[in-house]
Amino acid sequence: MKIAHIVLSIFALSVSNGLCETRSAFEPGKIWLDNNGVHINAHSAGLLFHEGTYYWFGEHKIEGDAGNVAHVGVHVYASKDLYNWSDEGIALKVSDAPNSDIVKGCIIERPKVIYNAKTKKFVMWFHLELKGKRYAAARSGVAVADKVTGPYTFTNSFRPDNTMARDQTLFVDDDNKAYHLYASEDNKTLHISLLSDDYLQPSGKNVRVFENRMMEAPSICKRKGKYYFIGSGCTGWAPNAARSAVADNMFGPWVETGNPCVGINPENKMGPEKTFGGQSTYILPVQGKPDAFIALFDLWRPKNAIDGRYIWLPLQFTETGLKVEWMDKWDLSFFDCPTQNVSKVR
Ligand code: DGJ
Repeated sequence: MKIAHIVLSIFALSVSNGLCETRSAFEPGKIWLDNNGVHINAHSAGLLFHEGTYYWFGEHKIEGDAGNVAHVGVHVYASKDLYNWSDEGIALKVSDAPNSDIVKGCIIERPKVIYNAKTKKFVMWFHLELKGKRYAAARSGVAVADKVTGPYTFTNSFRPDNTMARDQTLFVDDDNKAYHLYASEDNKTLHISLLSDDYLQPSGKNVRVFENRMMEAPSICKRKGKYYFIGSGCTGWAPNAARSAVADNMFGPWVETGNPCVGINPENKMGPEKTFGGQSTYILPVQGKPDAFIALFDLWRPKNAIDGRYIWLPLQFTETGLKVEWMDKWDLSFFDCPTQNVSKVR
């Protein structure tokens, strides 16, 4: 009896420490512990599903406002169920070499990884700003690995299509063509650029979209042949209203469909006008559940960057566009009810 008590108390203690907690739901905006009981440190996430496992890549941040530049690199986590994540370490490390583009103290943002089935390489693109130059460089960085979790080798950085590139994402279409979407022209206009077949550089084919709309934080998915986009306005680390758009063709025309957010985050009392306190970063297709997508947002804490939170909410498709409804807690069974994820109500 006594031993049973001790075992139970140790179990309770480790659960309260988050050490062996098994999650079965998403809790947007809350601390999200990994397998070691540490808040997940992978901001501006990009996800990749590869051979039965999801991989979550993101900016590793440190404490304080120092965490707004890169001291460590790109962190990667792995999960089979999307709720429980194991720390797989640093996929791309910043460099100690003073002349490296990715020297410690540079800015690495919004890393996204795609897999090239032809070359069998994992290719990472990220927004790169050179050390000490704030946001002036407006470059994209590329890194490559043979193994999904890395180590990724930095290849080079440049202004894609010879133009400025800041917030960015990648998208691989059904025909394996990959696209780079980035905020260009001083964030005024978004560019969509087809990548080369090896995904390592721009192909030269690109379009300008949402002209002068100051659209950043691009995220994209494809459902039933249509492309859906969620982005934000341009207000630094401060939240603003999300935007959405739809297109029949990747290169447009893109039609804006308004702010998809509905509801209020009770913790900060922020609703659609501030995207619940968040900013879009990625749209994740859920494997094995047709039409199931999760919209991912970052809740920035620029004064203590490491404390940034994650808002993951189901993406609902309406007759006119998209809906992202606030939920304090939810799980993937949400997608099992067809009237829920194909909502008719706006
Ligand atoms: C908003 C962007 O979306 C972030 O990735 C970051 O660049 C901040 N601005 C910096 O203020």
